[in-house]
Amino acid sequence: MHAAAPQPNILAPIPPLARALAFVLRPQVNPRDALTRLQMGFDPKDVIVGVGEPLARAIGRRVDGLRTFPALSGVGVVAPSTQHALWVHLHGNDRGALFDRETEITATLADAFILDDAIDLFRYRTGHDLTGYEDGTENPKEDAAVRAAISTGGEGRAGSSFVAVQRWVHDLARFRRLAPLERDHMMGRDLDSNEELEDAPESAHVKRAAQESFDPEAFMLRRSMPWAKAHAQGLEFVAFGESLDRYERVLHRMLGLDDGLVDGLFTFSRPITGSYYWCPPLAGGRLDLRLIGL
Ligand code: HEM
Repeated sequence: MHAAAPQPNILAPIPPLARALAFVLRPQVNPRDALTRLQMGFDPKDVIVGVGEPLARAIGRRVDGLRTFPALSGVGVVAPSTQHALWVHLHGNDRGALFDRETEITATLADAFILDDAIDLFRYRTGHDLTGYEDGTENPKEDAAVRAAISTGGEGRAGSSFVAVQRWVHDLARFRRLAPLERDHMMGRDLDSNEELEDAPESAHVKRAAQESFDPEAFMLRRSMPWAKAHAQGLEFVAFGESLDRYERVLHRMLGLDDGLVDGLFTFSRPITGSYYWCPPLAGGRLDLRLIGL
């Protein structure tokens, strides 16, 4: 029996380039063979794979802790649900190589899965949001990152992780019209020094999201990356956790569902997608899909 290990890219720093693929299931097709082929051709070096609840159900299995992303109405703001069956996050530093890998993976899956959404992601500066603020500063590191993101649960589940994926669209023109102090107060950090601003309002993003202010604490491993198209841009928010509750509790507070106070981020940004996935562990370098009966 091989020891369970997490998919390595969950814990790795964000790559220069990524491509996020979200698949739906073809109706009335058993996805088992396609998943077995994915398992065989899976190179953990350049990809993270996540299983959505619709896929687990199609195989007749439940993964404890995996659920569908909830559509949430907050105080004047919403977080929509766009749950997909399978998530494949390709990592690299060469767009051509990502293209080849995507072609290979979509062909491997084609008889059971339809590619429904694909987006190019890139590292901005050294890991910044397009607003210029550094993203990921308060991520837990090393052992703490493993404790936050990786499940220690039983057979087939140890080494796995859960991920929340949420695409945010920024109105950067609106953001740029805000005075520098308003921007810093919205984020709760000083743009130039990245220092946390104690006197920022309670709506400041880092105050809303302060991980140690939750009970229990809500540490998660964020691996978000920017995206940009002709007329829209934003952040593909990605957060790994040993459960989805950590993320969901923070999101609730951001939406004003705890105390009526909405996160300052909504001043210039809003989420347009939302999905949850279970990222299976590796055993012997292969995806370990025993928990879903493969
Ligand atoms: C427009 C979308 C978002 C942007 C631009 C953004 C940006 C940032 C920035 C700049 C920071 C401060 C530096 C850092 O610690 O990383 C931060 C912190 C954080 N964000 Fe976000 N974020 C976004 C959405 C979210 C969402 C949806 C969640 C979770 C539901 C979240 C959770 C957190 C957490 C937990 C922290 C660390 C707070 C702390 O403990 O200090 N963020 N974010």
